[in-house]
Amino acid sequence: MQVEYPPAISLFLPEQTMITDSYGRTMNYLRLAVTDRCNLRCAYCMPEEGLDWIPRKELMTYEEMWRICSLFVKMGVEKIRITGGEPFVRKNLLSFLKDISGVSGLRELTLTTNGLLTAPAVPELKKIGIRTVNLSLDTLDKDRFIRITHRNGLDKVLATLDGLLQHDIAVKINTVVMEGRNIADIIPLVQLTKTLPVSVRFIEEMPFNGGSHQVCLNWDHKHIREHIQGYFPGMLRTVDLPNATACNYNIPGHKGDVGIIAAYTRSFCGTCNRIRITPTGVLRTCLYDAGKLNLKDAMRNGNTDAELQNMITDIILGKPKDGWEAQNMLVKQHRERESMATIGG
Ligand code: GTP
Ligand code: 5AD
Ligand code: SF4
Repeated sequence: MQVEYPPAISLFLPEQTMITDSYGRTMNYLRLAVTDRCNLRCAYCMPEEGLDWIPRKELMTYEEMWRICSLFVKMGVEKIRITGGEPFVRKNLLSFLKDISGVSGLRELTLTTNGLLTAPAVPELKKIGIRTVNLSLDTLDKDRFIRITHRNGLDKVLATLDGLLQHDIAVKINTVVMEGRNIADIIPLVQLTKTLPVSVRFIEEMPFNGGSHQVCLNWDHKHIREHIQGYFPGMLRTVDLPNATACNYNIPGHKGDVGIIAAYTRSFCGTCNRIRITPTGVLRTCLYDAGKLNLKDAMRNGNTDAELQNMITDIILGKPKDGWEAQNMLVKQHRERESMATIGG
């Protein structure tokens, strides 16, 4: 399918601006969810029977997403991460990625995928210029994979991991740590870093599971770290990149690294540089807020790029200080029924 994009965005925009919030944080990392649909049913993300998928006409089109991405890059965004749901469930993803990679001024295009449909696309990802991919993988055990995701597919995820590494694409493995489900996988996943140049990141479970279950945060970042240190007492803290979500570690002699993401504890909000767009076009200034501006509606109502830019700037000025402030502004029930698939990673 050949997508027709408008020739250029508004001529009236200043050449390159920066989007800054009221705490002086610069927003240069956009996370765009291209779909809410998924071919897995991870327990930490959605109920076993899945979610009511959003009707297609409520999703942004690729043309709309391209316009938004171009506009954000003009406003200073340097990195775009494509998320979902599972991005590869959306048709023609590769040609969209190719088009986005051509947006002038964008420094990094990357994606988060569950790896089920990704392996055959790896050579094309390489050609497009994608240098890193984050891969969700919560267990190395076939049965536990089925119990966590309610689907079969570990072999395909491992083929994706292999393909990415063969093509010299850096991989970060995302593992959500869940009491009673994958604790036995923590150490085998850490052991992957001995021979593979991957970063394995253990993530605190957040309550965005579409009402699937009550989250118990027994395994917070401290507990995860102590558990790993019990097996690898020589594990050393490494220097984190600015704006990193993970605290990173290396075990001497290992090719890869270990990361721990305090996604629930939210210790990294002070340096947050992230903005999110949900599959329906809602701009969210925090993973824990509800979002106040629907960019898809704003575009469909005929707003110019300059008008969109003003709306975006205003909303970003209202970005909460941290995820706790964002959460306190929400109605409790709304939050508990949300799924990462509808927020977009
Ligand atoms: P890099 O771009 O590689 O640094 O990774 P990332 O951490 O931004 O991206 P990824 O999609 O791999 O995110 C991994 C996990 O980190 C997510 O699934 C969340 O659990 C958590 N995370 C990412 N961004 C945020 C955030 O803004 N707030 C919170 N609380 N957690 C986040
Ligand atoms: N808590 C923490 N991380 C989550 N993810 C999805 N749902 C949750 C949750 N409830 C992460 C997964 C996946 C990415 C898309 O989002 O690790 O890698
Ligand atoms: Fe699908 Fe990702 Fe949600 Fe798992 S976490 S069900 S892979 S969207």
